[in-house]
Amino acid sequence: MIFEHLRAGGCQSYLVGCAESCAAVLIDPEMSLIDRYQALAAREGLRIRHLVDTHTHADHFSATREVARRLEVPISMHRLSPAPFVDLRLDDGEMLVVGNLRMQVLHTPGHTQDSMCLRVEDRVFTGDTLLMGGTGRTDLPTGNPEALHDSLFNRLLQLDPALKVHPAHEYKGRDHSTLGQEIATNPRLQVRDRAAFVEMMQSLNLSMPTHLTEALRTNMSGGKTVAQMLAEAAATVPFMSLAELKARSEAGTGELVILDVRERDAYEAGHIPGAKLLPRGQLELRVNQDLPDPMRRIVSCCEFGRISTLATATLREMGFLRAVALDGGVKAWREAGYPLVSGAG
Ligand SMILES: [Fe+2]
Repeated sequence: MIFEHLRAGGCQSYLVGCAESCAAVLIDPEMSLIDRYQALAAREGLRIRHLVDTHTHADHFSATREVARRLEVPISMHRLSPAPFVDLRLDDGEMLVVGNLRMQVLHTPGHTQDSMCLRVEDRVFTGDTLLMGGTGRTDLPTGNPEALHDSLFNRLLQLDPALKVHPAHEYKGRDHSTLGQEIATNPRLQVRDRAAFVEMMQSLNLSMPTHLTEALRTNMSGGKTVAQMLAEAAATVPFMSLAELKARSEAGTGELVILDVRERDAYEAGHIPGAKLLPRGQLELRVNQDLPDPMRRIVSCCEFGRISTLATATLREMGFLRAVALDGGVKAWREAGYPLVSGAG
């Protein structure tokens, strides 16, 4: 078995391959590591055949959909996953065959109702059901402390104590532990009584993970994160630097339309000299009347340089092939000490 462990902050993902067939499975991929997964698989001579999410993640952006699109491989999750893009819905007692490897599915609800653990040879990938020195929380959507107690004490911890434990999260940099070590030392597993366990889980008072809503939105629906939308838009448009725009607008040739896509109050508080106001929210409605010449060179700007990137991508899509976005926004322009004009323009 070929085994690679990848970390992105506290999120752990695993590439597990069959040495004979070179087929591999990627478990809990994270968005920021997509290129590394592909590079590692290539380095190890592996072909990724399956992508698995151990559960619906609430704290990071799953990369399964993006990797699936790039590699044309199926996505596997537990059958209760709400995500519409799952190709292979797995259930308790089933196996995923990866070359000569047999990956066994244990349904272990509790952290989420679609949580599963995956056992292959001498290892078990525990998702957020069991962590090193902890367990997954049960206070996020579909979490259930009673179910977690069952999943742990009646299922997972009944397996061979020598099994290596590979969780979906680890914040202290430890590599792995074993079921036996967890049974002996994990503080949460010392609370065996069901009622006491539930009481403990209900009184943890954890803060909400950052990006909770966005992670659930994108992981449950397959939709895009805001960062993805911006990165995709940025890849389709050219940019102009602040200094270049300043020099060109001061030359006064009138070759550039500076399009300020912020709201009116922000525009009136201070805009780049000569800038024309066309709020992003009205772009499509007013474009024909305000920008009659599609061959004009347009530089769009906003406060931070992000909304203007989206606006420029929209303009290009509509046929304004010389639209570019300002690299930076009015905020950066202001901080550079460049001139601003206030009022209706
Ligand atoms: Fe989780």
